[in-house]
Amino acid sequence: NKGKYEHYMQKEIHEQPESLTTTMRGRLIRGGSCKAKTVLLGGLKDHLKTIRRSRRIVFVGCGTSYNAALAARSIVEELSGIPVTMEIASDLVDRQGPIYREDTAVFVSQSGETADTLLALEYALENGALCVGITNTVGSAIARHTHCGVHINAGCEIGVASTKAYTSQIVVMAMLALAIGADTLSNQARREAIIDGLFYLPRKVKEVLKLDKEMKDLAKLLIAEQSLLVFGRGYNYATALEGALKVKEVALMHSEGILAGEMKHGPLALVDENLPIVVIATRDSCFSKQQSVIQQLHARKGRLIVMCAEGDKASVSVGGSSRVIEVPHVVDCLQPVINVVPLQLLAYHLTVLRGYNVDQPRNLAKSVTTQ
Ligand code: UD1
Ligand code: BG6
Repeated sequence: NKGKYEHYMQKEIHEQPESLTTTMRGRLIRGGSCKAKTVLLGGLKDHLKTIRRSRRIVFVGCGTSYNAALAARSIVEELSGIPVTMEIASDLVDRQGPIYREDTAVFVSQSGETADTLLALEYALENGALCVGITNTVGSAIARHTHCGVHINAGCEIGVASTKAYTSQIVVMAMLALAIGADTLSNQARREAIIDGLFYLPRKVKEVLKLDKEMKDLAKLLIAEQSLLVFGRGYNYATALEGALKVKEVALMHSEGILAGEMKHGPLALVDENLPIVVIATRDSCFSKQQSVIQQLHARKGRLIVMCAEGDKASVSVGGSSRVIEVPHVVDCLQPVINVVPLQLLAYHLTVLRGYNVDQPRNLAKSVTTQ
């Protein structure tokens, strides 16, 4: 049921304040004055000791689910102190990459049925790793075959392009980081700041959704373009990949997410006064580097659309030529949840304006159960 919305993708983008609330329900514990705030992931509590002892955490997924894991990678590394590596499911299987008994392998999948991810899971089980599932579908193959896991509880997602599952996956993996790191005293203040951030997150997502009209106006400007680049780094490299994936999947426009740190090693050659470029420059430890990226793109006459935190317009504007999207500021590791929303809206409006099928893009399926 689409309710008041025209398409499922639109509905699912706009219901993210609610889906995120459901994802966190019963899992965030706010302590009293002397009790620490903490998270409780029922499906993992008996396995946390094993996870903490593992030599490595390997995230495995495809498409949007892979991007969500990438968004959470650094907070998991920071709070757990365990190295985290990333695997596209098909590539892990193609390479028969090394997976050991001392590894924790985390399989991220909205449907829980993706063939590539399932094959990678079988492979990791054979190699003796602890296998953890993060899925939206109770009773799915991945939920059944993993040793333990977390249901993201985002509610049924119908649009082929994943939106609300992406933000819920990031939140679950941030909670995973908090749970693994929960016995480390030195991280306590940081963990509490993130838990506070989680409490406020649905409200902030509601705020960022107010950009709907602004993103529709931007889509009107970009309707006839051939290509769109999205530059991000740090926590928001994943946002760049995911924003580009949305535009590619539904608006059928070429789009590429680019790690801004790699700009000089190739992508700069593409920059001219015609190609639109989104630069994500919200506040985190990479902000000044992104300011310099903006300067350099501007110096090459790049057609910039800059995403920054509210109040930062002046700090990211160059020569008055760039367009600026201001988004609410949240704690750095949760900022990807906010930043992806305007890009989801942009992809949605571009698709509708270009007259394509939003909920069932050509050649794609919601759940790819064949190799
Ligand atoms: C569970 C109940 C929830 C109830 C809550 C009350 C289910 C599905 N969930 O939620 O309805 O409100 O207790 O305490 O009945 N698992 C995997 N692989 C996966 C995902 C999950 O093995 O990919 C396992 C978990 O390890 C766990 C079980 O499935 O044993 C349920 O996971 P989850 O729903 O996340 O657990 P709770 O949040 O505790
Ligand atoms: C398909 C979908 O390619 O599978 C994508 O079209 C999705 O939207 C990908 O991200 C992975 O799916 P899942 O269910 O494993 O998260």
